[in-house]
Amino acid sequence: MSLEISNLTKAYGGLRVVDDVMISVPTTGITGIIGPNGAGKSTLFSLITGFIEADAGHVSLGSVALDGLPPYRRARAGMVRTFQVPREYTHLSVRENLAAAAPDQTGESLAGLFLTPGKVRAEEKAVAEKVAATLDFLRLTRVADLAAGGLSGGQKKLLELGRALMTGARLILLDEPFAGVNPVLIEELSARIHELNARGTGFLIIEHDLGALSRLVSAMHVMDRGRIIASGTPSAVLSDTAVREAYLGGGGKAA
Ligand SMILES: Nc1ncnc2c1ncn2[C@@H]1O[C@H](COP(=O)(O)OP(=O)(O)OP(=O)(O)O)[C@@H](O)[C@H]1O
Ligand SMILES: [Mg+2]
Repeated sequence: MSLEISNLTKAYGGLRVVDDVMISVPTTGITGIIGPNGAGKSTLFSLITGFIEADAGHVSLGSVALDGLPPYRRARAGMVRTFQVPREYTHLSVRENLAAAAPDQTGESLAGLFLTPGKVRAEEKAVAEKVAATLDFLRLTRVADLAAGGLSGGQKKLLELGRALMTGARLILLDEPFAGVNPVLIEELSARIHELNARGTGFLIIEHDLGALSRLVSAMHVMDRGRIIASGTPSAVLSDTAVREAYLGGGGKAA
């Protein structure tokens, strides 16, 4: 199964920041997206997940067409994203932020509350256990009961990742998950992303840390000025002349 993106386009004031993008992302793999600042990577994520509306193009996950659906419907279809600038609930605790990201629980519907209290309790316990495991995984247990707004920049990135993991989505889009995270933890997170992937979760990851990303992904796409200018294995892509030129800023032949 795969996430299929075709002819996806978005312009602001006449400038196509995402320009006719066509890629296929396997939901069973770990795929990277790289590119210079302003290339359109985060905007592409917003189009894929429905946070902004595309001018043209299509997005589908497996057999499900996602065009026009709001983010929560796309999440229900099995795909969620994180934000480059974390969007935690600042006044809730770290633990509460994670719990709030768990998929709809029976207890949230009145019928569930009145008819199956035992089941509700069991689900609450399952969520609490998953929260505890996620806190442990992300080294956030020590700050679990503090207001999320007070976390450091790196810790907020970790919480953002945790919130995505809590959803149980089959495909998770991560926007610069390693930005501001210390190198040792980057290696640990990479190892855990590998583990999650081995257990069936797919990832599409935007990262500027090309070393860490290359070790993680089997394929990457390169964006420059709204377009995909190269796709392939990390080593092939990183030795591509057009990619090097795009990163040097001139663009030249990459245009
Ligand atoms: N709402 C908006 N209105 C106008 N221009 C926008 C808007 N959102 C994004 N842009 C522009 O679109 C371009 C792509 O932005 P985007 O955030 O997608 O880049 P990016 O590849 O994620 O960059 P970075 O690596 O710095 O995060 C930028 O030039 C940005 O200024
Ligand atoms: Mg970005």
